[in-house]
Amino acid sequence: MKELQTDYALEHTIPYENYVSPQIFEKEKKKIFQSSWILAGHMSQVEKAGDFFTFDIADQPIIISKGKNNELNAFYNICPHRGTIVEKSECGNKKVFTCTYHGWTFHLNGKLNKAPNFTTNEIGNHSCMTKVKLEVFQSMIFINLNPDARPMAETYGDFMASLEKYTFLDSLKKIRVTQRVIDANWKAVVDNYLECDHCKIAHPEFSKTFDMKNYHIDLHANFSCQYSELTNKSKEDQGDHANFYWVWPNLMVSIYPGKEGNMTTSQILPLSADKTLAIYSYYFKSDEISEEQEELIRFVDQVREEDFDLVELLQKGFHTNAFKYGVYSPTEYAMKYFHNLYENAINGQ
Ligand code: FES
Ligand SMILES: [Fe+2]
Repeated sequence: MKELQTDYALEHTIPYENYVSPQIFEKEKKKIFQSSWILAGHMSQVEKAGDFFTFDIADQPIIISKGKNNELNAFYNICPHRGTIVEKSECGNKKVFTCTYHGWTFHLNGKLNKAPNFTTNEIGNHSCMTKVKLEVFQSMIFINLNPDARPMAETYGDFMASLEKYTFLDSLKKIRVTQRVIDANWKAVVDNYLECDHCKIAHPEFSKTFDMKNYHIDLHANFSCQYSELTNKSKEDQGDHANFYWVWPNLMVSIYPGKEGNMTTSQILPLSADKTLAIYSYYFKSDEISEEQEELIRFVDQVREEDFDLVELLQKGFHTNAFKYGVYSPTEYAMKYFHNLYENAINGQ
Protein backbone atom coordinates (compact mmCIF):
# COMPACT_ATOMS: atom_id res chain seq x y z
CA MET A 1 0.00 0.00 0.00
CA LYS A 2 1.40 3.32 -1.05
CA GLU A 3 0.98 6.06 1.50
CA LEU A 4 0.55 9.25 -0.45
CA GLN A 5 -0.58 11.42 2.38
CA THR A 6 2.35 13.10 4.08
CA ASP A 7 0.45 15.69 6.11
CA TYR A 8 -1.60 13.17 8.02
CA ALA A 9 -3.51 14.35 11.05
CA LEU A 10 -6.19 12.37 12.86
CA GLU A 11 -9.59 13.44 11.56
CA HIS A 12 -13.19 12.35 12.00
CA THR A 13 -15.18 10.81 9.18
CA ILE A 14 -18.58 12.25 8.32
CA PRO A 15 -21.07 11.56 11.12
CA TYR A 16 -22.59 8.09 11.34
CA GLU A 17 -25.98 9.78 11.48
CA ASN A 18 -25.57 10.34 7.73
CA TYR A 19 -25.59 6.57 7.23
CA VAL A 20 -28.88 5.93 9.04
CA SER A 21 -31.06 9.04 8.89
CA PRO A 22 -34.09 8.90 6.54
CA GLN A 23 -34.16 12.73 6.54
CA ILE A 24 -30.55 12.94 5.34
CA PHE A 25 -31.30 10.24 2.78
CA GLU A 26 -34.12 12.40 1.35
CA LYS A 27 -31.64 15.26 1.02
CA GLU A 28 -29.12 12.99 -0.72
CA LYS A 29 -31.71 11.89 -3.25
CA LYS A 30 -32.31 15.48 -4.33
CA LYS A 31 -28.83 16.95 -3.97
CA ILE A 32 -26.83 13.99 -5.27
CA PHE A 33 -28.80 11.35 -7.16
CA GLN A 34 -31.29 13.64 -8.83
CA SER A 35 -28.64 16.14 -9.88
CA SER A 36 -25.52 14.13 -10.81
CA TRP A 37 -24.67 12.19 -13.96
CA ILE A 38 -25.61 8.59 -13.23
CA LEU A 39 -24.79 5.51 -15.29
CA ALA A 40 -28.12 4.09 -16.48
CA GLY A 41 -27.06 1.48 -19.02
CA HIS A 42 -25.09 0.60 -22.11
CA MET A 43 -25.57 1.04 -25.85
CA SER A 44 -25.61 -2.73 -26.32
CA GLN A 45 -28.98 -2.74 -24.50
CA VAL A 46 -30.58 -0.55 -27.18
CA GLU A 47 -29.14 -1.75 -30.47
CA LYS A 48 -32.28 -1.60 -32.66
CA ALA A 49 -35.06 0.96 -33.11
CA GLY A 50 -37.74 0.18 -30.51
CA ASP A 51 -35.30 -1.35 -28.01
CA PHE A 52 -35.73 0.05 -24.50
CA PHE A 53 -34.87 -0.57 -20.88
CA THR A 54 -36.19 0.87 -17.63
CA PHE A 55 -34.03 2.11 -14.79
CA ASP A 56 -34.84 3.51 -11.34
CA ILE A 57 -32.63 6.05 -9.63
CA ALA A 58 -33.49 7.32 -6.15
CA ASP A 59 -37.21 6.54 -6.57
CA GLN A 60 -37.40 8.10 -10.04
CA PRO A 61 -38.43 5.61 -12.76
CA ILE A 62 -36.84 6.25 -16.15
CA ILE A 63 -37.12 4.75 -19.66
CA ILE A 64 -34.24 4.76 -22.12
CA SER A 65 -35.34 3.96 -25.66
CA LYS A 66 -34.04 3.95 -29.19
CA GLY A 67 -36.42 5.81 -31.50
CA LYS A 68 -37.48 5.22 -35.10
CA ASN A 69 -34.55 7.25 -36.41
CA ASN A 70 -32.14 5.51 -34.07
CA GLU A 71 -31.97 8.52 -31.77
CA LEU A 72 -31.61 7.78 -28.08
CA ASN A 73 -34.29 9.07 -25.67
CA ALA A 74 -34.54 9.26 -21.90
CA PHE A 75 -37.73 10.24 -20.09
CA TYR A 76 -39.60 9.59 -16.87
CA ASN A 77 -41.58 6.37 -16.98
CA ILE A 78 -44.63 8.29 -15.78
CA CYS A 79 -47.86 8.83 -17.66
CA PRO A 80 -48.65 12.54 -18.08
CA HIS A 81 -52.38 11.85 -17.79
CA ARG A 82 -52.56 10.98 -14.10
CA GLY A 83 -49.08 9.80 -13.16
CA THR A 84 -49.08 6.00 -13.43
CA ILE A 85 -45.98 3.99 -14.24
CA VAL A 86 -46.26 3.24 -17.96
CA GLU A 87 -43.74 0.52 -18.86
CA LYS A 88 -43.56 -2.35 -16.40
CA SER A 89 -40.95 -4.55 -18.02
CA GLU A 90 -37.22 -4.19 -17.50
CA CYS A 91 -36.42 -4.23 -21.20
CA GLY A 92 -37.83 -5.19 -24.58
CA ASN A 93 -38.68 -3.86 -28.04
CA LYS A 94 -41.86 -1.88 -28.74
CA LYS A 95 -43.42 0.33 -31.36
CA VAL A 96 -45.31 2.36 -28.76
CA PHE A 97 -45.50 2.45 -24.96
CA THR A 98 -49.00 1.91 -23.57
CA CYS A 99 -50.27 3.10 -20.20
CA THR A 100 -52.44 0.35 -18.75
CA TYR A 101 -54.64 2.74 -16.75
CA HIS A 102 -56.64 4.61 -19.43
CA GLY A 103 -54.83 3.40 -22.50
CA TRP A 104 -52.80 6.43 -23.55
CA THR A 105 -50.05 5.43 -25.96
CA PHE A 106 -46.68 7.08 -26.50
CA HIS A 107 -44.11 7.12 -29.30
CA LEU A 108 -40.60 5.83 -28.63
CA ASN A 109 -39.49 9.41 -27.90
CA GLY A 110 -42.11 9.78 -25.14
CA LYS A 111 -44.50 11.96 -27.18
CA LEU A 112 -48.20 11.23 -26.94
CA ASN A 113 -49.58 9.07 -29.74
CA LYS A 114 -53.21 8.65 -28.68
CA ALA A 115 -55.25 9.69 -25.65
CA PRO A 116 -58.49 7.70 -26.10
CA ASN A 117 -60.35 9.47 -23.28
CA PHE A 118 -59.64 12.96 -24.70
CA THR A 119 -61.14 14.51 -27.80
CA THR A 120 -57.90 16.30 -28.71
CA ASN A 121 -54.16 15.66 -28.61
CA GLU A 122 -53.58 19.35 -27.76
CA ILE A 123 -53.03 18.90 -24.05
CA GLY A 124 -50.03 21.17 -23.49
CA ASN A 125 -47.22 19.85 -21.31
CA HIS A 126 -49.17 16.67 -20.77
CA SER A 127 -48.69 15.56 -24.34
CA CYS A 128 -45.23 14.14 -23.65
CA MET A 129 -43.57 12.07 -20.97
CA THR A 130 -41.04 14.30 -19.18
CA LYS A 131 -37.64 14.29 -20.88
CA VAL A 132 -34.42 13.57 -19.01
CA LYS A 133 -30.91 14.69 -19.97
CA LEU A 134 -28.78 11.95 -21.50
CA GLU A 135 -25.16 11.61 -22.65
CA VAL A 136 -23.30 8.67 -24.08
CA PHE A 137 -19.64 8.18 -23.30
CA GLN A 138 -17.65 5.10 -24.40
CA SER A 139 -21.03 3.40 -25.08
CA MET A 140 -22.08 3.96 -21.46
CA ILE A 141 -25.41 5.80 -21.17
CA PHE A 142 -25.56 8.43 -18.45
CA ILE A 143 -28.62 10.40 -17.37
CA ASN A 144 -29.05 13.49 -15.23
CA LEU A 145 -32.42 14.36 -13.69
CA ASN A 146 -31.50 18.00 -13.25
CA PRO A 147 -32.85 19.78 -16.36
CA ASP A 148 -30.15 22.46 -15.89
CA ALA A 149 -27.28 20.00 -15.48
CA ARG A 150 -23.97 21.06 -17.02
CA PRO A 151 -22.50 18.74 -19.68
CA MET A 152 -20.69 15.68 -18.33
CA ALA A 153 -17.38 16.89 -19.68
CA GLU A 154 -17.42 19.80 -17.23
CA THR A 155 -17.42 17.51 -14.21
CA TYR A 156 -15.80 14.39 -15.61
CA GLY A 157 -13.47 15.75 -18.28
CA ASP A 158 -10.37 14.20 -16.68
CA PHE A 159 -12.07 10.83 -16.24
CA MET A 160 -13.25 10.87 -19.84
CA ALA A 161 -9.75 11.74 -21.03
CA SER A 162 -8.21 8.92 -19.01
CA LEU A 163 -10.45 6.37 -20.76
CA GLU A 164 -9.51 7.53 -24.24
CA LYS A 165 -6.55 5.15 -24.33
CA TYR A 166 -8.91 2.15 -24.21
CA THR A 167 -9.88 1.98 -27.85
CA PHE A 168 -11.75 -1.32 -27.36
CA LEU A 169 -14.46 0.10 -25.06
CA ASP A 170 -16.94 0.93 -27.83
CA SER A 171 -16.79 -2.63 -29.15
CA LEU A 172 -17.87 -4.23 -25.85
CA LYS A 173 -21.33 -5.62 -25.12
CA LYS A 174 -23.02 -6.03 -21.79
CA ILE A 175 -23.01 -9.81 -21.47
CA ARG A 176 -23.88 -10.56 -17.89
CA VAL A 177 -25.57 -8.76 -15.01
CA THR A 178 -25.79 -9.79 -11.37
CA GLN A 179 -27.23 -7.81 -8.51
CA ARG A 180 -27.54 -7.85 -4.76
CA VAL A 181 -29.48 -5.83 -2.22
CA ILE A 182 -27.05 -4.89 0.53
CA ASP A 183 -28.32 -4.07 4.02
CA ALA A 184 -26.16 -0.98 4.26
CA ASN A 185 -26.12 2.67 3.30
CA TRP A 186 -24.80 3.38 -0.19
CA LYS A 187 -21.90 5.46 1.20
CA ALA A 188 -20.67 2.53 3.27
CA VAL A 189 -20.36 0.56 0.01
CA VAL A 190 -18.43 3.39 -1.67
CA ASP A 191 -16.23 3.92 1.43
CA ASN A 192 -15.34 0.25 1.37
CA TYR A 193 -14.28 0.47 -2.28
CA LEU A 194 -12.08 3.50 -1.74
CA GLU A 195 -9.56 2.01 0.66
CA CYS A 196 -7.56 -1.19 0.57
CA ASP A 197 -6.48 -1.26 4.22
CA HIS A 198 -8.96 -4.12 4.59
CA CYS A 199 -7.73 -6.08 1.56
CA LYS A 200 -5.13 -8.24 3.29
CA ILE A 201 -7.56 -9.29 6.00
CA ALA A 202 -10.80 -9.53 4.05
CA HIS A 203 -9.61 -10.54 0.56
CA PRO A 204 -6.93 -13.22 0.84
CA GLU A 205 -7.20 -14.25 -2.84
CA PHE A 206 -7.14 -10.66 -4.10
CA SER A 207 -4.10 -9.93 -1.93
CA LYS A 208 -2.26 -12.92 -3.38
CA THR A 209 -3.18 -11.94 -6.94
CA PHE A 210 -2.02 -8.31 -6.74
CA ASP A 211 1.22 -6.84 -5.48
CA MET A 212 -0.13 -5.24 -2.30
CA LYS A 213 3.20 -3.58 -1.48
CA ASN A 214 2.75 -1.42 -4.57
CA TYR A 215 -0.98 -0.90 -4.51
CA HIS A 216 -1.87 2.59 -5.73
CA ILE A 217 -4.93 4.74 -5.13
CA ASP A 218 -4.65 7.91 -7.19
CA LEU A 219 -7.03 10.81 -6.70
CA HIS A 220 -8.29 12.99 -9.54
CA ALA A 221 -11.09 15.52 -9.97
CA ASN A 222 -14.34 13.64 -9.20
CA PHE A 223 -12.81 10.19 -9.61
CA SER A 224 -10.09 7.92 -8.33
CA CYS A 225 -8.08 5.11 -9.88
CA GLN A 226 -6.65 2.06 -8.10
CA TYR A 227 -4.12 -0.30 -9.63
CA SER A 228 -1.33 -2.71 -8.97
CA GLU A 229 0.62 -5.25 -10.99
CA LEU A 230 -0.34 -8.92 -10.88
CA THR A 231 2.07 -10.87 -8.69
CA ASN A 232 2.53 -13.62 -11.30
CA LYS A 233 3.20 -11.31 -14.24
CA SER A 234 6.44 -11.33 -16.16
CA LYS A 235 8.41 -8.06 -16.32
CA GLU A 236 7.61 -7.66 -20.07
CA ASP A 237 3.86 -7.93 -19.45
CA GLN A 238 3.79 -5.25 -16.77
CA GLY A 239 2.20 -1.92 -17.57
CA ASP A 240 -1.15 -2.97 -19.02
CA HIS A 241 -2.55 -3.59 -15.57
CA ALA A 242 -6.25 -3.36 -14.70
CA ASN A 243 -7.51 0.03 -13.50
CA PHE A 244 -10.27 0.21 -10.92
CA TYR A 245 -12.03 3.57 -11.22
CA TRP A 246 -14.50 5.09 -8.86
CA VAL A 247 -16.53 7.94 -10.32
CA TRP A 248 -18.46 10.37 -8.10
CA PRO A 249 -20.98 9.63 -6.70
CA ASN A 250 -21.88 5.95 -7.13
CA LEU A 251 -20.11 4.28 -10.02
CA MET A 252 -17.19 1.87 -10.23
CA VAL A 253 -15.64 0.97 -13.58
CA SER A 254 -12.95 -1.70 -13.79
CA ILE A 255 -11.06 -1.95 -17.04
CA TYR A 256 -8.92 -4.95 -17.90
CA PRO A 257 -6.86 -4.25 -21.05
CA GLY A 258 -5.26 -7.72 -21.32
CA LYS A 259 -5.27 -9.67 -24.62
CA GLU A 260 -8.87 -8.85 -25.40
CA GLY A 261 -10.02 -5.93 -23.30
CA ASN A 262 -13.04 -6.12 -21.06
CA MET A 263 -14.82 -4.02 -18.47
CA THR A 264 -17.06 -4.35 -15.43
CA THR A 265 -19.25 -1.66 -13.89
CA SER A 266 -20.89 -1.47 -10.47
CA GLN A 267 -23.84 0.84 -10.01
CA ILE A 268 -24.44 1.55 -6.33
CA LEU A 269 -28.09 2.56 -6.17
CA PRO A 270 -29.56 3.73 -2.88
CA LEU A 271 -32.97 2.29 -1.92
CA SER A 272 -33.25 3.76 1.59
CA ALA A 273 -30.93 5.01 4.33
CA ASP A 274 -29.88 1.43 5.06
CA LYS A 275 -30.53 -0.50 1.84
CA THR A 276 -28.62 -0.36 -1.41
CA LEU A 277 -28.99 -2.16 -4.69
CA ALA A 278 -25.67 -3.00 -6.31
CA ILE A 279 -25.80 -3.93 -9.99
CA TYR A 280 -22.72 -5.52 -11.54
CA SER A 281 -22.40 -5.68 -15.26
CA TYR A 282 -19.75 -7.52 -17.26
CA TYR A 283 -18.85 -6.34 -20.74
CA PHE A 284 -16.97 -8.46 -23.27
CA LYS A 285 -16.37 -8.38 -27.00
CA SER A 286 -18.27 -11.55 -27.77
CA ASP A 287 -21.40 -13.22 -26.38
CA GLU A 288 -19.41 -16.37 -25.75
CA ILE A 289 -17.77 -16.14 -22.36
CA SER A 290 -14.44 -17.95 -22.29
CA GLU A 291 -13.26 -19.98 -19.33
CA GLU A 292 -10.75 -17.28 -18.50
CA GLN A 293 -13.53 -14.70 -18.42
CA GLU A 294 -15.72 -16.95 -16.25
CA GLU A 295 -12.80 -17.16 -13.88
CA LEU A 296 -12.54 -13.36 -13.81
CA ILE A 297 -16.28 -13.08 -13.03
CA ARG A 298 -15.92 -15.61 -10.23
CA PHE A 299 -12.93 -13.73 -8.82
CA VAL A 300 -14.68 -10.33 -8.93
CA ASP A 301 -17.90 -11.72 -7.42
CA GLN A 302 -16.00 -13.31 -4.58
CA VAL A 303 -14.22 -10.06 -3.67
CA ARG A 304 -17.55 -8.23 -3.76
CA GLU A 305 -19.31 -10.74 -1.55
CA GLU A 306 -16.49 -10.42 0.96
CA ASP A 307 -16.96 -6.65 0.88
CA PHE A 308 -20.74 -6.76 1.30
CA ASP A 309 -20.51 -8.97 4.35
CA LEU A 310 -18.20 -6.34 5.83
CA VAL A 311 -20.39 -3.34 5.05
CA GLU A 312 -23.47 -5.07 6.44
CA LEU A 313 -21.57 -5.58 9.71
CA LEU A 314 -20.51 -1.95 9.59
CA GLN A 315 -24.10 -0.76 9.10
CA LYS A 316 -25.04 -2.46 12.37
CA GLY A 317 -22.37 -0.34 14.09
CA PHE A 318 -23.74 2.91 12.63
CA HIS A 319 -26.98 2.33 14.52
CA THR A 320 -25.39 1.97 17.97
CA ASN A 321 -24.66 4.67 20.53
CA ALA A 322 -21.01 3.65 20.82
CA PHE A 323 -19.47 6.23 18.46
CA LYS A 324 -20.69 9.18 16.45
CA TYR A 325 -17.84 9.18 13.92
CA GLY A 326 -15.02 7.01 12.66
CA VAL A 327 -11.44 8.16 12.06
CA TYR A 328 -9.43 8.02 8.83
CA SER A 329 -6.18 6.08 8.58
CA PRO A 330 -3.40 7.74 6.50
CA THR A 331 -4.28 5.45 3.60
CA GLU A 332 -8.00 6.22 3.64
CA TYR A 333 -7.49 9.51 1.80
CA ALA A 334 -9.69 8.54 -1.17
CA MET A 335 -12.60 7.91 1.19
CA LYS A 336 -11.91 11.29 2.76
CA TYR A 337 -12.00 12.89 -0.69
CA PHE A 338 -15.37 11.21 -1.36
CA HIS A 339 -16.65 12.61 1.94
CA ASN A 340 -15.49 16.10 0.95
CA LEU A 341 -17.38 15.89 -2.33
CA TYR A 342 -20.37 14.54 -0.44
CA GLU A 343 -20.39 17.38 2.07
CA ASN A 344 -20.09 19.97 -0.68
CA ALA A 345 -23.02 18.41 -2.53
CA ILE A 346 -25.22 18.08 0.55
CA ASN A 347 -24.48 21.54 1.89
CA GLY A 348 -24.52 23.30 -1.48
CA GLN A 349 -27.51 25.11 -2.93
S1 FES B 1 -52.83 7.44 -16.13
FE1 FES B 1 -52.03 6.77 -17.98
S2 FES B 1 -53.67 6.82 -19.34
FE2 FES B 1 -54.50 7.57 -17.50
FE1 LIG C 1 -12.83 -4.79 -0.42
